[in-house]
Amino acid sequence: MNVRILKDEQAVARAVAARVIKTLTARPATVLGLPTGRTPVALYARLVAAHAAGRVDFSQASTFNLDEFLGLPGDHPASYRAFMETHLFGHVNLSPRRIHFLNGAARDPVAECARYEAAIRRAGGIDLLLLGIGTNGHIGFNEPAAGLVADSHPARLAAGTRRSNAELFDGRVQAVPRRALSMGVGTILRSRAIVLVATGAGKADVIKATVEGLVTTRVPASLLQLHGAVDLVVDEAAAAGLRRR
Ligand code: GLP
Repeated sequence: MNVRILKDEQAVARAVAARVIKTLTARPATVLGLPTGRTPVALYARLVAAHAAGRVDFSQASTFNLDEFLGLPGDHPASYRAFMETHLFGHVNLSPRRIHFLNGAARDPVAECARYEAAIRRAGGIDLLLLGIGTNGHIGFNEPAAGLVADSHPARLAAGTRRSNAELFDGRVQAVPRRALSMGVGTILRSRAIVLVATGAGKADVIKATVEGLVTTRVPASLLQLHGAVDLVVDEAAAAGLRRR
């Protein structure tokens, strides 16, 4: 894993936005994989500003988001789809037909996941996947477990993950769905390039485990050690536990 340590959250957002802009400039039809969460908010703000300034064009790009709550339609205010509309999609010139999302309200969640995998394949696979990480090492909604599902699948959320998502539901943990749809670790590892982003002291332990620990399904992000093109972009606080700095 190529580790890049930057001063703070803004420096991290600047570096990752520059990577996305460079990728889209070189190849306008890039297929992007996108995360939600607090971490990418500053990054999306920079991409929106760059687009407003005419520095990046999304018109040919495609996007696939990592995950969505099960049971929530995309127009539910707490859905990840709504989050993406607020922070990115509503402000850039992505073509609506090239924005792809797992439909949390699908009647048949398993069939919905199969549809999503097929759509990713049809698009030619994900060129650049941006990833956040949960404090327990989850990526997407692939929670620590004895075994992990490779492809997109319905997933059960860990209690801590539901707590950290409560903000989207006006702080009500009980309102956070217990299940979600998520790309699998195989979907993630099939991406041609991956940028894992983490900021803040709360991520220091899990970043250490991800980079320097054993490859284990108990820390799903540690599987990224098996991929040849992963850049980890972290601020100094999230890098605090790393041996080599
Ligand atoms: C959420 C999402 C992940 C995200 C992670 C970290 O539950 N499913 O895709 O990367 O938690 O979130 P944050 O960036 O808010 O720390």
